[in-house]
Amino acid sequence: MSIPKTMTAIAVERTQAGAKLIPIQLPTPEPGPGQILIKVKSAGINRADLLQVQGHHPPPAGAPATPGLEAAGVVARVGANVSGWKDGDQISALLPGGGYAEYAIASEPCCLYVPKNVSLLDAGGLPEVYFTVWSNVFDAARLQPNETFLVHGGSSGIGTAAIQLMAARGHRVFTTAGSADKCDACAKLGAERAVNYKTEDFVEIVKAATNGKGVDVILDMVGGDYVMKNLNALARRGRLINIAYQKGAKAEVDFRIVQAKLLMLGATGLRGRPDSEKGEIRDALKREAWPLFDSGRLKPVTYRVFPLAEAGAAHHLMQESSHIGKILLEA
Ligand SMILES: NC(=O)c1ccc[n+]([C@@H]2O[C@H](COP(=O)([O-])OP(=O)(O)OC[C@H]3O[C@@H](n4cnc5c(N)ncnc54)[C@H](OP(=O)(O)O)[C@@H]3O)[C@@H](O)[C@H]2O)c1
Repeated sequence: MSIPKTMTAIAVERTQAGAKLIPIQLPTPEPGPGQILIKVKSAGINRADLLQVQGHHPPPAGAPATPGLEAAGVVARVGANVSGWKDGDQISALLPGGGYAEYAIASEPCCLYVPKNVSLLDAGGLPEVYFTVWSNVFDAARLQPNETFLVHGGSSGIGTAAIQLMAARGHRVFTTAGSADKCDACAKLGAERAVNYKTEDFVEIVKAATNGKGVDVILDMVGGDYVMKNLNALARRGRLINIAYQKGAKAEVDFRIVQAKLLMLGATGLRGRPDSEKGEIRDALKREAWPLFDSGRLKPVTYRVFPLAEAGAAHHLMQESSHIGKILLEA
């Protein structure tokens, strides 16, 4: 494949009026040992990218300044010691950054094949949410067969993935979302009950639906006063995992309920973890989740696709939060 010396990538320009996303020309990166150069077809937008633009979620050491935590495309070149991929293969990858570009570098342990029933375009929105959901729900919270599950923000990229995956694995799934339309969409994806958090109380609803027992695992991206509500909504020996704190990282918690119900609380981040840990998550997804895409049981939920140069408009849409599922950039 002929690879141009320069490529279009999206840069964050900071001015006194605020931060802007603008297309610029950069040298096309070279894959080092264990790395793969991807000719990007699509890159997923993630809420963490909005935080990065605001200066709150800096790239880890060695990662490109260009935003973009995931992409799908075609292998353009492989670095030394890459064994599983060759030029022209379709590929999707979790990235430490750099997805908003015509070419991006991925580490081999973070790469997955594009499933049979998924277009190359849609595949760019799968890695970040599925790596996050799998590692939190199964590795951290250890959801067991027949246990019940609640994910907040059911219409988010994360939520649409979590609902589908847990429903496909036979769990009863509860979720919260901020409108009737979003709740309908969550129910269609497999949620037994989607709670409109603006008009309903999720603690009461999940307790009533579980005969007063509560749910076994909660995946939360809200924080703030949801922390205490989550503890009330958990069953004995329940586990709460936080992946974000949109309503605030500080909360007043009565730890007596944690002790009385033998609860476990945790929180994780994905971006800064070593490739060896990401590779273990990749292996689990390849074994457990990607075959469910191959068979059509899981489906990508793409809300809207913007051209790469319109990354700013894509961020604006996510900020408004009217979307259901993933927003993508097409390179
Ligand atoms: N720790 C990690 O490794 C990790 C990895 C990936 C993502 N994340 C985090 O996970 C979250 C989702 O990411 P994403 O990219 O999928 O973003 P997204 O699509 O923009 O989702 C954000 C969601 O939060 C919901 N939300 C806000 N306030 C809520 C509330 N009070 N109750 C219920 N839902 C509420 C929004 O729904 P409404 O508009 O209806 O309110 C929206 O669906 C983000 O906060 C992101 O930073 C963390």
